[in-house]
Amino acid sequence: MGDTPRQRIAVIGATGQVGMALSRALHRLGHEVIAVSRGRSASNRSQLDQLAALGMHLAFQEDLTNVSQVVAILAGCDVAVVALRANARLVRELEPPILEAARKADVRRFVPDEFGTHTKGLDYGVGTLFDAKKEFQEQVFRSGLEWTLIFPGGIFDYFLPNLRLVERITTFGNLHCTFPTHSLEDIGAISAKAVTDSLTANKAVQMYANVVTQAKLVTMLKRLWPDHHFEIEHVSTETIIYLKEHGDPLKISAKGGAEPDRERHGINYATYVLGRLACLDDPDTINANDLYPGYVYKKPEEALADPKFVFGETHYNC
Ligand SMILES: NC(=O)c1ccc[n+]([C@@H]2O[C@H](COP(=O)([O-])OP(=O)(O)OC[C@H]3O[C@@H](n4cnc5c(N)ncnc54)[C@H](OP(=O)(O)O)[C@@H]3O)[C@@H](O)[C@H]2O)c1
Repeated sequence: MGDTPRQRIAVIGATGQVGMALSRALHRLGHEVIAVSRGRSASNRSQLDQLAALGMHLAFQEDLTNVSQVVAILAGCDVAVVALRANARLVRELEPPILEAARKADVRRFVPDEFGTHTKGLDYGVGTLFDAKKEFQEQVFRSGLEWTLIFPGGIFDYFLPNLRLVERITTFGNLHCTFPTHSLEDIGAISAKAVTDSLTANKAVQMYANVVTQAKLVTMLKRLWPDHHFEIEHVSTETIIYLKEHGDPLKISAKGGAEPDRERHGINYATYVLGRLACLDDPDTINANDLYPGYVYKKPEEALADPKFVFGETHYNC
């Protein structure tokens, strides 16, 4: 565990993409993990079984707005991390009562549901999801609890070109905007170190190891798979700007997407128009490369060379 003493950490949303990777990594570091889920369902059964098999304590809480019940789960925890499916409505409905419960339970540090675009470095108005996350950040800063914000850049699965859920590669806005992207496993590992690290109290941590552009990624993909013809569709900057204001605020049309269309184009706007997925010029932000210089990250080339990553289990036919 290095210099970090064993801590008790509640991960709310432990069965999710970020939550699973983080819970596993916390467990590997020797911490006690309380994996919080709304309940067993067809979609999270295997994740709950994996967490239980590792010896984590499972806590089921169907209604996350029930403050006294959430207090009972968080009692004795050093850190509470929220890694729930995030859209603006869920952030506004669920996170304030979870924060209130953390205060009442005397949790030392609160880690809100960020794990994406560096919202602290953005102005209000860039996207509806970001505005909801920023409003909640202000509540966290006023709460008196220690806080840590984790900004991992883009998860490989979403930000590296691949054909697992879609028929063609889609590019967006400015192909030369730079952004960092990392594997879920690395995001879990760095987040686990950061949420338990005394150096990151009241800080944001920006992961910034693999900095790429869409142009470079598409070139890399074509070089790695020279015999495959990749159909490429481009969504223009003008379309992104229109859809971030006028896209459907409720409909989710992206396969495998969690955000309604308008929120999704807010994310595209921040990343591929403003070039602000990541931010290192915020005064409270620490670059994870400086915090954990010895950590070795998986590279985009490694993921794009893997046929399962690019084509999926069933679609590999090149
Ligand atoms: N950096 C990136 O590229 C990137 C990509 C995707 C997401 N993110 C961000 O990462 C954070 C975590 O997202 P994620 O993709 O890991 O989440 P996720 O896998 O979509 O969901 C996490 C968990 O939330 C619970 N959940 C689902 N729907 C819910 C609802 N309606 N109400 C309450 N709980 C619900 C589920 O757990 P139970 O069923 O067990 O309760 C689920 O396993 C979000 O803030 C998101 O914006 C970042």
